[in-house]
Amino acid sequence: MNKVRWGIIGAGNISNTFAKAVLTLPRAELAAVAARNLDSAKAFALKYDIPKVYGSYLEMVKDNEIDAVYIATPHSHHYEHMMLCLENGKHVLCEKAFTVNEQLSKKVIDVAKSKKLMLMEAFWTRFLPMTQKIKELIAENSIGEIKAIHTHFGFDLTHLGPKSRVFDLTLAGGALLDVGVYVINSATMYLGNKPDKITCVGKKGQTGADYKNSIILEYGDKIATLSSSIDTRYANKQFIVGTKGMIEVPEFWQCQKAIITEHNKEVYEINLPHGVNGFEYEIGHFMDCLFEGKTESDIMTFENTLAIAKITDACRKQMDLVYPFE
Ligand SMILES: NC(=O)c1ccc[n+]([C@@H]2O[C@H](COP(=O)([O-])OP(=O)(O)OC[C@H]3O[C@@H](n4cnc5c(N)ncnc54)[C@H](OP(=O)(O)O)[C@@H]3O)[C@@H](O)[C@H]2O)c1
Repeated sequence: MNKVRWGIIGAGNISNTFAKAVLTLPRAELAAVAARNLDSAKAFALKYDIPKVYGSYLEMVKDNEIDAVYIATPHSHHYEHMMLCLENGKHVLCEKAFTVNEQLSKKVIDVAKSKKLMLMEAFWTRFLPMTQKIKELIAENSIGEIKAIHTHFGFDLTHLGPKSRVFDLTLAGGALLDVGVYVINSATMYLGNKPDKITCVGKKGQTGADYKNSIILEYGDKIATLSSSIDTRYANKQFIVGTKGMIEVPEFWQCQKAIITEHNKEVYEINLPHGVNGFEYEIGHFMDCLFEGKTESDIMTFENTLAIAKITDACRKQMDLVYPFE
């Protein structure tokens, strides 16, 4: 394979970001888009000059001229849509949250493994140049041993209304799976996949979904304090605190800037802006895996995906948060 022919499932908001990034990648082709309604697929295809449109996801995954599928549907449907793709021989890049729980995530991973197909959770922030740079700084001991991570990530999305995907419990909406996974992902990236203890407090809103939550992950003498919200705009900063200094990441989920304080040295700033919109790095990595014949990423591994799911499962239990379809 020297070119990847992409199909898109779901012609919603974030599929636009994906499509814009794919258009800039030389070995990628936007081959098809599928929506539940043919007119939506047509309107989306028109914007990005996509040659094939489907009014059914099933019809698209049966197309032999598609290699890989990007799934951007609500969290509640990721499992079903990933299965649909894998059963029809497609490689899959699926948006976060990967599925609604660890058990379903394991099942999909097992199917991908048995079919020798590439599967990855689309955790775009893992692939950003600044994320890689922060990892380097930590590995070089710039801030010493990490002792604490504090991250806030919240938006006021109430203008979208309670029926919106983000608030709708029947679509596995809520702060935890929508934005909380970012703060969890980031903590596991720097402190590890296996916290000793997980504590979570949530505040539910009118739909029954968690509109905000705060999580504490304990790792021996290290701690991560993580907060996320879909009804309140937070500072959206991250502080990675070590024994010799700290790294501050403003607008942490975009991760384009870091302010580094090393004790006894001047504070300095690193800026690594996205080349396109930030999605180009994860898509490029996914395609490199395909070109190299790999079926699992070494940056967003299955273990990483399952670790996040295990933590969200524990948080949901403590918040007494059950989705109606479970
Ligand atoms: N990586 C990021 O930065 C980022 C940002 C935002 C969202 N996301 C993730 O991307 C996914 C999609 O989010 P979005 O903001 O793009 O959502 P959205 O605008 O609501 O789009 C979701 C799409 O899902 C499809 N869909 C299939 N079954 C559905 C159902 N029963 N109800 C509603 N929609 C259904 C619809 O596609 P058709 O009707 O077109 O078929 C819809 O366009 C979520 O997993 C979200 O967490 C990621």
